[in-house]
Amino acid sequence: MKRQNEYVVVLVAAVVMIGVVVALYGYSGSYNVGADDPHWSVTHKVVQTMRDRSIRSRSADIKVPILNDPALILNGAGHYDAMCTICHLKPGVNNSELRAGMYPQPPTLSGIRVDPRDAFWIIKHGIKMSAMPAWGSSHDDQTIWSMVAFVQKLPGMTPEQYHDIVAKAPPDDDMDMDIDSDSEHSHSHHGAEHHSHSVSGSAMEKQNDAKSSIALDETGNGAETLKAGAAPEAEAAAQDFLDALRAGDSLKVMKLLAPEAQISEGDETQSVKQYAGHHLSEDMAFLKHCEVTVVSRTSIAAGDTARVVSETNMIGTSNGRAVRLRSREQMGLKRIDSQWKIVSID
Ligand code: HEC
Repeated sequence: MKRQNEYVVVLVAAVVMIGVVVALYGYSGSYNVGADDPHWSVTHKVVQTMRDRSIRSRSADIKVPILNDPALILNGAGHYDAMCTICHLKPGVNNSELRAGMYPQPPTLSGIRVDPRDAFWIIKHGIKMSAMPAWGSSHDDQTIWSMVAFVQKLPGMTPEQYHDIVAKAPPDDDMDMDIDSDSEHSHSHHGAEHHSHSVSGSAMEKQNDAKSSIALDETGNGAETLKAGAAPEAEAAAQDFLDALRAGDSLKVMKLLAPEAQISEGDETQSVKQYAGHHLSEDMAFLKHCEVTVVSRTSIAAGDTARVVSETNMIGTSNGRAVRLRSREQMGLKRIDSQWKIVSID
């Protein structure tokens, strides 16, 4: 009896020791999280198996509708071309600037067959710790099935066939450039009530994965010209806008906004006129005494439109209280007479 107790003690101690060693390793910073440092092959196998088992056990009961339906496929073609090609490519295209540095690499969907149930589950829920987004947060099941139906047709499709089907596809009707649905919607640098939800350490966590936030972008209708970091002039306009706000130069601010621009703060969307009448002066007052650091800024261009995502740290005061916040702002821009103008701010 006594002997047995000793075994238990030794076993528990061993388990605890292993736990401590793992924790120390993690804490020490030895582990390289860089996307350009591939996993060991064992780790890769473990992760891969866990991924496959996880997906399979969740997708097994999904009922597959009739996928061989031309209207459904056509609908999926439009969505695919707008949202997926930057990572998953299309027939005749071998890589994209964004995809090249990704780990895990998004598979070339025209080269593999994916089980429709798995595809549905993956498209809807995304895959953690990879760049694959959960499209279910912005698309209904019917739309997701249309993409599944199209993806089933992709293998073997020639570039010409791809081009034809996409040309016939209905436009991606959710291209309202606003697919953020949560509090990350934070063009919110004014008014204490706005600050409160951004002022927390957790805002820092939002930094996690700039890549997937670019990819979530739906400026995808000129997919050929989609390139990450491709709109330096639009990025400069975003910086000019921030500088003009900080300098209190409302004329310059107005010049940078397209007349039809929509400015969203929190849940509220305002026209330029509404913004000028109210929030603009608050923004300028707040930013004037604020220390602002742009942490990251990325852009994608598609012809004469571009999308710029900026993450900014701000340290200042609002209603006498010190605030420190990280804001993530998405701007839609349009080139009008060779000038980039802001058409939306989220
Ligand atoms: C930002 C890049 C990115 C975008 C955009 C993206 N994906 Fe993915 N996707 C990935 C990555 C990375 C993986 C691989 C994840 C893994 O294996 O862990 C993946 C995996 C998949 C898979 C599973 C393939 C397999 O091997 O079983 C499917 C299906 C898929 N994506 C469909 C789509 C569709 C449809 C869209 C457009 C609506 C889309 N993806 C948009 C990055 C992306």
